[in-house]
This record gives sequence, structure tokens and C-alpha cells, in this order.
Amino acid sequence: MRTYLVTGGAGFIGSNYIHYMFKKYDNEIRIINVDVLTYAGNLENLKDVENRDNYTFIRADICDRDAINKIFEENDIDRVVHFAAESHVDRSIVNPEVFVQTNVLGTATMLNAAKKAWELPDGTFKEGKKFLHVSTDEVYGSLDDDPNAFFYETTPYSPHSPYSASKASSDMLVKAYMDTYKFPANITNCSNNYGPYQFPEKLIPLIINNALAGKDLPVYGDGKNVRDWLYVEDHAKAIDMVQEKGRLFETYNVGGHNEKQNIEIVKTIIDTLKEVLDDSDPRKAHLSYDLIKYVSDRKGHDRRYAIAPDKIKAEIGWEPETMFAEGIKKTIKWYFDNMDWMQNVTSGDYEKYYEKMYSNK
Ligand code: NAD
Ligand code: DAU
Repeated sequence: MRTYLVTGGAGFIGSNYIHYMFKKYDNEIRIINVDVLTYAGNLENLKDVENRDNYTFIRADICDRDAINKIFEENDIDRVVHFAAESHVDRSIVNPEVFVQTNVLGTATMLNAAKKAWELPDGTFKEGKKFLHVSTDEVYGSLDDDPNAFFYETTPYSPHSPYSASKASSDMLVKAYMDTYKFPANITNCSNNYGPYQFPEKLIPLIINNALAGKDLPVYGDGKNVRDWLYVEDHAKAIDMVQEKGRLFETYNVGGHNEKQNIEIVKTIIDTLKEVLDDSDPRKAHLSYDLIKYVSDRKGHDRRYAIAPDKIKAEIGWEPETMFAEGIKKTIKWYFDNMDWMQNVTSGDYEKYYEKMYSNK
């Protein structure tokens, strides 16, 4: 049975990936989820899988060399899927150091531990071992409004925020391991994800949450910055397909040709909420574009991201399956059906879940 070590599996994309993998492979695989549970890590995201015999949660910091080496020593890990990171740009502007610590040093620790466990005496690596580093389109910098300009795998790196600089550094380390040691890895650079279990500091869940509460909807700058939105399950599928069908040592861009200005996203959420809420629902009364408040721009705010997913489509056959109109409805429905989740996250109660579920294990 193949064993996956997933880092950051209690976060947004990591937990969706774990759900996707169990849905696809069921008992054919084993997953070890290593997560230190920062504010962004939430074990409630994994309630459905926590009692599976082929799932293990280990609370550990990816910067803790001894803890990570021990996991590799005690388990025959076949695949690493490395999500763990500090992921929010606004936080990186306020407190850059933790981004360097987790994203750069944490990735170095993961690479070292995997290399140590997988390397043979002749410097080659055990058959079938693979490391996938999950990265972002933000490493490529910012595009202008020319609709024909895209990020390709060959686009030079030009990060602007402390977050994207730390992700770019971690990508460079992975590239260095591949070049120097022929370390068996891939890098994926993905565009903005949305879907269930996203922490409500990010645009889409924040707007859904505020709109339902009748609170202001903050739009940075002129609201015309563009992001390329991908439904998170499509990203999970891409990661699996890259590990299954991709060429080792390659980078694959993952995105959806689904570019939207931020203001369009905010208005779509308001319109969709109006559509799905009952007329008798009191939350519907205050839903209008009047809630939109233009606020000071993010420092160094990248104007436009747009991924060209040509390589992953041509080589691997991956394409996004969820169109935005459908994905945003599914996402809103998920938040509706999981109001407790949102309540726990916004009140901080979710941070007690670990003590409740794991302290006696
Ligand atoms: P997230 O912030 O929701 O989750 C991050 C997870 O990592 C959390 O569970 C957190 O507890 C864990 N973590 C943080 N520091 C850790 C440490 N030192 N040791 C162990 N675990 C730690 O992030 P996300 O949005 O799910 O992003 C996951 C990955 O995907 C990140 O590497 C991010 O850069 C990348 N990415 C995200 C997006 C996006 O739109 N969210 C797009 C492209 C790439
Ligand atoms: O592009 C991939 C990246 O997408 C990932 O690497 C990051 O981890 C992820 O956080 C995301 O970064 P962004 O900065 O693009 O996402 P965020 O949701 O923070 O913001 C999306 C856009 O919306 C951005 O242009 C800033 C704007 N924004 C954001 C917030 C939180 C607002 O206008 N108002 C807000 O309140």
C-alpha cells in the first residue's frame, strides 16, 4: 500500500486534497497528515476521515528536524505532498519573518528529511519515491491588463510580497535539489483556489461571511485587480495527476483561464446569495451592493495573475472541470450547510478541537 506524507493537511487545500484522495483511492493508500495547527489548521476539516485505519494525524512543525526525520524513519513514505505554509499575503506584509521560517526553512527541512530517507549509497534514489512541492502563481509577479499576457512555466520569477518571495525561495530550493541531487520532485504553481474549508481571511469566504452578517464588504484599491480562480477539488486532482503522470523534475502551472476582477467576484457573491436565500430569510433584507466599501489598497498589490495551463493539459490531460458559476454556487451552499464551521472558525472554538479529539490518544 502506498504511503503519502501530506504536510499542512489540516488547512484549506490540504484537507480538500485528503478528502479527494480517499474518495478516489479509498483503502488503497495510507495518508499521514503532518500539521502543527497554526490558526489556519483546523482538524474539523477532517472529521469525516479521522477514524479511518489508513489515516494518521501527527501534530508536528515542519521546521522541527528531529520530528520530521522520525516520521520518515518510522514510516516507509512513498510520496510527499508538501502544502504546509503560511499562506496569507496580508499577514506576510505585517509579519514577514514567520513566512521565511515556515515556507523557506520548513521546506528545507522537508527536503533534507526526504533525501536522507530515500537516497541510496550510490547517490540515486529508491524507486518510485516522489516529492511534490505545492506552490503559487504569485512567484511570477504581476501582469498588466493585456488579456493576452499569461504566466508560463518559463516566466522569470519576480515575487513582490514577503509571502510570494518566501514561496519563490522554497521553489528555488526544490529546483536546487532536483538539479544537484536528481532528487525526485515536481513543483506545481497554482492560481487562486476557492471552495469548502477556506479560512475567512481570504476574499471569497470573507465576503460570504460578511455579506450574510450584513457587514461591510472591503474591496482593496479600485477593485480591478484580477485573479484566476480555480475550484479547489480541481487543484487536488491536478496534484494527483502530476504525481501519477507527470515527468519528474518538471514544473506544472495549474490554473483555469478563469480570470475575474475582484469587484466582479464580490458582486457575483451578493447576486448568488440573493438568488439562493428565501425571501423570508432576514439575512436577505440587507443584501445589496451598498455593502461594498472601497478601502485602502494592499501594499505592493499585484495587479493581475493569469496562468497558462497549456503544459499540464498537453502532457497530462488535466483541465479544470468546475466552471466558476457552478463552483461559486457549490461553495456558497457548502458555507450555508456548514454555518457551525464558520461560527467555530470566527469565534476561535475550532482551536479546541485538537484537545478534544487527540489529547487522550
Ligand atoms: P492554509 O493557510 O489554509 O493552510 C496551511 C496549513 O499549513 C495549515 O493547516 C497550517 O496549520 C499548516 N502549517 C503552517 N505552518 C506549519 C508548520 N510550520 N508546520 C506544519 N504545518 C504548518 O493554506 P492553503 O490555502 O491551504 O495553501 C496550501 C498551500 O498551497 C500553500 O503552500 C500555499 O502557498 C499554496 N497555494 C495556495 C493557494 C490558495 O489559493 N490558497 C494557491 C496556490 C498555492
Ligand atoms: O494566486 C495564488 C494565491 O492566492 C495563493 O498563493 C495565496 O496563498 C492565496 O492567499 C491567494 O492570494 P491572494 O492575495 O490573491 O488572495 P486573497 O484572497 O487574499 O485576495 C484576493 C484578491 O482580493 C486580492 O487582489 C486582494 C483582494 N482582497 C482581499 C481581501 C482579503 C480585497 O479586495 N479585499 C479583501 O478583504
